Amino acid sequence: MIVLGIESSCDETAASLVRDGHEVLSSIISSQVAKHKCYGGVVPELAAREHLKNVSPVVEGAFLEAGLSMKDIDAIAVTSRPGLVPALLVGNSYAKGLAAALGKPIAGMNHFLGHIYGAFLEHPEVLSDPKKFPVLALVVSGGHTAIVHIPADGQARILGTTLDDAAGEALDKAAKILGLGYPGGPIIDKISRDGGNPDAFHFPRSLTGGGGKPLNPEHRYDFSFSGVKTSLLYAIKDNPDALPNRLPDLCASFQEAVIDVLKRKAMDAARQVNAKLVVLAGGVACNSRLREKIADVCAHEHRDFLPAPPKYCTDNAAMIGGLAYHYFRRNCALEPDFGIHARLDFNLGILPFAPLAQL
Ligand code: KG4
Ligand code: ZN
Repeated sequence: MIVLGIESSCDETAASLVRDGHEVLSSIISSQVAKHKCYGGVVPELAAREHLKNVSPVVEGAFLEAGLSMKDIDAIAVTSRPGLVPALLVGNSYAKGLAAALGKPIAGMNHFLGHIYGAFLEHPEVLSDPKKFPVLALVVSGGHTAIVHIPADGQARILGTTLDDAAGEALDKAAKILGLGYPGGPIIDKISRDGGNPDAFHFPRSLTGGGGKPLNPEHRYDFSFSGVKTSLLYAIKDNPDALPNRLPDLCASFQEAVIDVLKRKAMDAARQVNAKLVVLAGGVACNSRLREKIADVCAHEHRDFLPAPPKYCTDNAAMIGGLAYHYFRRNCALEPDFGIHARLDFNLGILPFAPLAQL
């Protein structure tokens, strides 16, 4: 089965053709980063106008790259939630129009679950192995930071999420404070790697209990990244020589504070649910230090670790076309008149690819 995946939830217009949920025949991504750079973040209406310009050429590009024509596909999948409403509207209108014209089935996909699926795209065999469950997924992007428990029955549950900024958003805002470009996550990652000392400055680890106390029980798996950003502002104010002289130390120490909390909470959750496999997904999962740190703990605790490949961490349509296959194959989640939604539903429902799902 060949699925055309379409993604337009934020500032990437993407299309991909995926065979049987794992064979990526093409993946085209048109990034709008340059358009939003001067605003230091994504402007929803501007994003929608760019999607409108790009969606048709991007879809055509995906067919060209795969050497296929539109009649060769079996179904269409489009990100329908969560995301920026004006941006989602463009991809969804286009996808529904195309499905009607071609007479193909269409399904709306959850972008957040798509990110998790990004880790399995190149390892579909893991999904049919009951020994890999329960799975604990840490999903970290510019829009989301969440810990997800996926037990063997596939009923995915969010254990904790951010109360304010997402991890990627915090890194992007820190980069703005430091006078670096946008998006800031990859820049901070690179500067930190090139000689920053993660212990040079101490930034707070919020909602962790601090000072050796146990994790704050009501926010055990929640995150808060807005305070650490303020601490960065004070560190610069209190150390007038810090910029530009100690830029690498500031980057590495700030990044460490964000990563440390992500690692501590995700691995604490992994222990609680006795996860056999830890999955790392979303744009921030590209971060070299985060990958390294979680890999180390997993190795130490004898848990399998599956980070999404960097090309499937940031927004793409292969994760959407791949995920959709599992719904189409089981003939489920096919409401032809699905709507779009800005927010993430805490009750993610059954993940159709988990082995014991009764679908
Ligand atoms: O998943 P994504 O492409 O879009 C959303 O769904 O939000 O994630 C984008 C986020 C941005 O905040 C960006 O700074 C961050 O991922 N990011 C990184 C790295 N690469 C991208 N953060 C830290 N280190 C990286 N190497
Ligand atoms: Zn995303």
